Amino acid sequence: MIEGDFLDYLNAERKMKKLLLNEPKSIAFQKIVDFLHDSFEKYSWVGIYFLKRNELVLGPWRGKQATEHTTILLGTGICGAAAKTGKTELVDDVSKDKRYLSCFLSTRSEIVVPIKKMNVVVGEIDIDSDGTAAFNKNDVIFLEKVADMLGQHI
Ligand code: SME
Repeated sequence: MIEGDFLDYLNAERKMKKLLLNEPKSIAFQKIVDFLHDSFEKYSWVGIYFLKRNELVLGPWRGKQATEHTTILLGTGICGAAAKTGKTELVDDVSKDKRYLSCFLSTRSEIVVPIKKMNVVVGEIDIDSDGTAAFNKNDVIFLEKVADMLGQHI
């Protein structure tokens, strides 16, 4: 897929909507993670965390390696910050962000988008990229739409 093309994001959104309608939640979420990872080359690692009390718990993920951070306390790391504030975190260079919890040596940038249900954070999409400043405004808009879709199905 050619990245940054508006139509690519639109098509991806349509495909994911179908996935959510046609599959049970447990399968659909894994398929969405797989789809994101496989469709955008710069999405090197894609995972969904679910917020349980004051802790983020890793759900479906796709990437080269498993992460040791299968649980993250609310307010800790970039993931915990996004879950606490309910706002998307976009980090162009993880080596310059003191909050960053390292998972993979190859990661250069990261985006974390909260998933909300009735305006309350219930989880998040976490994407690592091996490229510096890999995520742009289109990724933010696109992934916030995906998070909205997921929030309606949690
Ligand atoms: N880097 C994240 C931790 C999760 S891993 O990227 C999968 C953070 O700083 O919260």
